[in-house]
Amino acid sequence: MVENIVETVNLSKVYKRKNVEIVALNDVNLQIPKAQIICINGPSGSGKTTLLNIIGGVDRPTRGKVTVDNVDITRLGESQITRFRLEKIGFIFQFHNLFPTLTAFENIELPLILSKKPKETREKRVSDLLEIVGMKERADHKPDELSGGEQQRIAIARALTNNPTLILADEPTGDLDSENAIAFMKLVKELNKKQGQTFLIVTHDPLVSQECDKIYAIRDGKLRE
Ligand SMILES: Nc1ncnc2c1ncn2[C@@H]1O[C@H](COP(=O)(O)OP(=O)(O)OP(=O)(O)O)[C@@H](O)[C@H]1O
Ligand SMILES: [Mg+2]
Repeated sequence: MVENIVETVNLSKVYKRKNVEIVALNDVNLQIPKAQIICINGPSGSGKTTLLNIIGGVDRPTRGKVTVDNVDITRLGESQITRFRLEKIGFIFQFHNLFPTLTAFENIELPLILSKKPKETREKRVSDLLEIVGMKERADHKPDELSGGEQQRIAIARALTNNPTLILADEPTGDLDSENAIAFMKLVKELNKKQGQTFLIVTHDPLVSQECDKIYAIRDGKLRE
């Protein structure tokens, strides 16, 4: 039997604003087996970010169920879901979302501070991660002292800090040139192969989707293979 890292059952999200209802997700049933690289594409406003946010426990569904690593996250309380996010999920965003006043090292270290890891453990882990993403020489640079591709590599390292089972990426190469987009996917594939991490990537970039195990399309909140 294939083990699924993510399962959604009739997942729906309806945003209500004044008297208008916006159906962002409409009965989404998705199964993601462990250690796969899955891509999702679809037009603007089709529900891609909403889906990632709900799977990552940032947002709550209106109806339906989401299981991540055999835990029904729709039943978790606020503090449990915060812990779940910290331990199980890595987020990578289009614009990196690095803290501008922190160095590359400190940005990667942050999730370890939040999960109360001792200093020696943190230093070892951050230095290993800098090595993995090839950024050892830039450890003490602030984000604005790094190129776009380098910032993205720091953002990947930060997403990996707590060794998450699932990595969610929202247009991770949207801000990168093709050379850096290829380098990004190479790193994703390496991590996937070596550490068996599962990637769910929202992308329109053919350089990314051609490397995925499976591609889904989403349109008006409906998911299709
Ligand atoms: N907090 C919110 N309140 C009300 N409506 C929202 C909210 N967030 C998103 N929406 C609406 O839900 C729909 C899906 O939004 P979502 O951000 O998931 O789209 P997307 O596929 O990620 O689009 P893009 O490619 O532009 O990032 C859109 O119609 C959007 O306007
Ligand atoms: Mg989006």
